Amino acid sequence: MTGNEIRQAFLDYFERHEHKVVHSSPLLPANDPTLLFINAGMNQFKDVFLGLEKRDYSRAVTSQKCLRAGGKHNDLDEVGKTARHQTFFEMLGNFSFGDYFKKEAIEYAWDLLVNEFKLAPERLWFSVFEGDDEVPPDDEARALWEKVGAAPERILGFGRKDNFWQMGDTGPCGPSSEIFHYMGDDPLDPEKNSPYWVNGPGDTTIEIWNLVFMQFNRTHEKDGTFKLTPLPAPSVDTGMGLERMAAVMQHVETNYETDLIKPFVEFVAELANA
Ligand code: ALA
Repeated sequence: MTGNEIRQAFLDYFERHEHKVVHSSPLLPANDPTLLFINAGMNQFKDVFLGLEKRDYSRAVTSQKCLRAGGKHNDLDEVGKTARHQTFFEMLGNFSFGDYFKKEAIEYAWDLLVNEFKLAPERLWFSVFEGDDEVPPDDEARALWEKVGAAPERILGFGRKDNFWQMGDTGPCGPSSEIFHYMGDDPLDPEKNSPYWVNGPGDTTIEIWNLVFMQFNRTHEKDGTFKLTPLPAPSVDTGMGLERMAAVMQHVETNYETDLIKPFVEFVAELANA
């Protein structure tokens, strides 16, 4: 599939499941002094998650332009060193505003990846929040992954750094569950296609999709501390890297070799007579 086809298939899949297709917001956030550039699909829905704004839909799907070159989710130092980080990228995401929660989010993710995009389950890894002193382990997400068909040994627990997502220092947040794809030639090799590479070194096993179970608002208190307060309704925020998904579907090793980016590289090379 081309990058354009992947984007369209994602939007169509969730539209078929009663999600409103919403346009990407501009890269500069409107009315949000906590953010310099849009860094995730959920930004334009921040007030909807917080219960401060009502829309006439409770499910949405977007392909959001994102820039991660500063602030909390700053990928700038990774660009050029890994095959998978970009400053500008497109994030595909489905959202529930107090509508469905973990069960449907996990069922949709499995169905889209395995049945529509035809990714092999033996190449997929799943991570869930293992809990800390503030938020308990996400045993529910683990059980739901098993229920849809993930092998128990392919579901791994990680801490706050990897499996708790927040937009910035403040705002909606919650435990997350990520999906990784083994890109190598030998999925049957237990050393190459192994848990060691999940959130580990290299680009052979890459994160392709993050499902965030939005449950809290993180606020900065007057005494200088941060506080987690439950959101009015548990919600869902997901983000799939379009260029990464294109690398997976097009069997190439880096985002730069996908049809979304390669033509630009070739054009510049031509101008430079390279
Ligand atoms: N907001 C989540 C992320 O950016 C989905 O990873």
